[in-house]
Amino acid sequence: MQHIRTATLDGVASIEIARPEKKNALTVEMYQAMAEALSAAREDAAVRAVLITGQPGIFTSGNDIEDFMKRRPGEGSDALDSPVARFMLALLECDKPVVVAVTGAAIGIGTTMLLHCDFVYVSDEARLSMPFVGLGLVPEYASSLLVPQLMGARRAAEKLLLGEPFTPEQAVECGIANAVLPAAEVVPHARRVAERFRALPPGAVREAKRLMRAPQREQVLATIRAEGALFAARLRSPEAMEAFGAFLQRRKPDFSRF
Ligand code: COA
Repeated sequence: MQHIRTATLDGVASIEIARPEKKNALTVEMYQAMAEALSAAREDAAVRAVLITGQPGIFTSGNDIEDFMKRRPGEGSDALDSPVARFMLALLECDKPVVVAVTGAAIGIGTTMLLHCDFVYVSDEARLSMPFVGLGLVPEYASSLLVPQLMGARRAAEKLLLGEPFTPEQAVECGIANAVLPAAEVVPHARRVAERFRALPPGAVREAKRLMRAPQREQVLATIRAEGALFAARLRSPEAMEAFGAFLQRRKPDFSRF
């Protein structure tokens, strides 16, 4: 069963997250496949834009929690060399427009990745959340920098410290998403936006995207390195073990002893 499905059609390289039985939770193998799909899209001159989609009702439930417990990305190696980091850095460095159809819930890295895409369309059934702290972890991939920038420190505290979910309308209001669409229309709409790049000059698109990102690039990368070191350490923390264990045993975590 292929959990990441890729295709190229009408100048658009699509990456579909397809592991509905686990709510599209992302494993090391899936990050690896998505990283490879992004580099292939970058190298293929026929590809003018990338489209990322999930499944009806679920975009992704974030990193696979069993994988978090087993593999601990970054452990024993450079944190930026793990499959998840290779995927996120490929997304950051993708010089073609990336359009996302958030087909349902986007949790953890499911929301974080949106911060690095160019166009984000959200289903009216979607909920976004970054529940890192509740899992004993810290924000990742520059979300500690970009979320406060987008929505201000106070609202960012609700999302990043309390892990409060937010509605598609709030995602648009704070600038994470472009528009909310009825669930059945979110993928076709996102695809139409991606296909518009077939009629645009690719060199100018590439240079414009690079210019838009250049002013913050170094700060984003430095933040990712700082967050990555803490995140890797937190994955081994007793707080995180309690949170992961609680999720898998379907009970509430108990942090009273920490
Ligand atoms: N990692 C591993 N497995 C996951 C998962 C994840 N992130 N999200 C869901 N699953 C699994 C569940 O364990 C369950 O597996 P099982 O059927 O073998 O028991 C299956 O997917 C269905 O999930 P379930 O929780 O029963 O579905 P739901 O509709 O009640 O809830 C979610 C859906 C997405 C709200 C809920 O699964 C959830 O909160 N997931 C974890 C999100 C999270 O904290 N992600 C990490 C962010 S850093």
